[in-house]
Amino acid sequence: MKVTISVIKADVGSLAGHHIVPKPLLDTAKENLKRGKEEGIIKDFFVTNCGDDLELVMSHRKGKNSSEVHSLAWEAFNKCKQKAQEMHLYAAGQDILKEAFSGNVRGMGPGVAELEFEERKSEPVVVLMADKTEPGAFNLPLFRIFSDPFCTAGLVIDPKMHEGFNFKITDVYTGDMLQLSSPEEMYDILALIGTTGKYVIKEVSKKDGTVAASVSTDKVNLIAGKYVGKDDPVAIVRAQHGLPAIGEILEGFSFPHLVAGWMRGSHIGPLMPVGLKDAKCTRFDGPPRIVALGFQVSNGLLIGPADLFDDPAFNNARDMANFVSDYLRKHGPFMPHRLSAHEMEYTTLPQVLKKLKDRFINEK
Ligand code: F6R
Ligand code: MG
Ligand code: MG
Repeated sequence: MKVTISVIKADVGSLAGHHIVPKPLLDTAKENLKRGKEEGIIKDFFVTNCGDDLELVMSHRKGKNSSEVHSLAWEAFNKCKQKAQEMHLYAAGQDILKEAFSGNVRGMGPGVAELEFEERKSEPVVVLMADKTEPGAFNLPLFRIFSDPFCTAGLVIDPKMHEGFNFKITDVYTGDMLQLSSPEEMYDILALIGTTGKYVIKEVSKKDGTVAASVSTDKVNLIAGKYVGKDDPVAIVRAQHGLPAIGEILEGFSFPHLVAGWMRGSHIGPLMPVGLKDAKCTRFDGPPRIVALGFQVSNGLLIGPADLFDDPAFNNARDMANFVSDYLRKHGPFMPHRLSAHEMEYTTLPQVLKKLKDRFINEK
């Protein structure tokens, strides 16, 4: 029997600015999912947060895009929104963009990553959760994990991985999707996914169709039609036994690459891998963070999690992220620390520029 892992997340309000989800909200979400478990909608769940994003990790038998599971998550977020409003938390209900629910949270504000698969004899999965960045932040590490033999030794050594993986890539503006095959079409993959704000890896699978990874690609600003913050994506990656080992997945994040997001969703900054205790964005509302939680899926239940970046082995990555943060911050409001004009269209800058429009005089 197949199991589905759904990670559904939303920013429904936070403590002391866009900083961290406080305990009463986590408790409210847990109560709701507990009810969903008792009613048999989900098999198991884990509620957590990365910075100001509340993440619901759920296992169930209802398949992807299940209206029952999505409606359970939607109710949980709405209860949390209510609680956040009562507590006068900051940006209460930020990602609840629509009122009427029609069976699926996609396009309503929350981010969704889901994987449905036949549970193996032993099924390790990693749930990755980021704050203060966008879905394209996963492009580089996922490429490294599933395509780069300098990251993933199994691509060279393991006969079960040697033929490579397929990448589903989506254009987040048009919704167009295509599948490309690695290593054969590796350069085509890179030609697209290097443009992280537009082309985003949505799924990775083995050549026989076995699903390996799924990313939330929902763009809140495009849904809302105005600046609401960055999307703060999540991803699910299956590990081991013909798929990348846990350590190969984590290795993809050992280099704190530059991503779009950080302060006001308008800056480039390094993606810092952290344990849950450090999953809170402070300096200049950042730098952007990523958490990795390891679970064993066992008869549909979630055993764990293991807080995988809570390890001194990632100290160098964190130190490098701090060093790069210092360097970038010295640029203040200048590009390339601040995003390009095109990317700034989805922030509050155009409102400022509008004021100056009529003061330009053409001297040509
Ligand atoms: C980034 C983010 C924050 C806010 C910033 C200003 O995704 O959420 O950096 O953009 O704190 O927030 P407001 O406009 O709410 O004061
Ligand atoms: Mg927020
Ligand atoms: Mg956030």
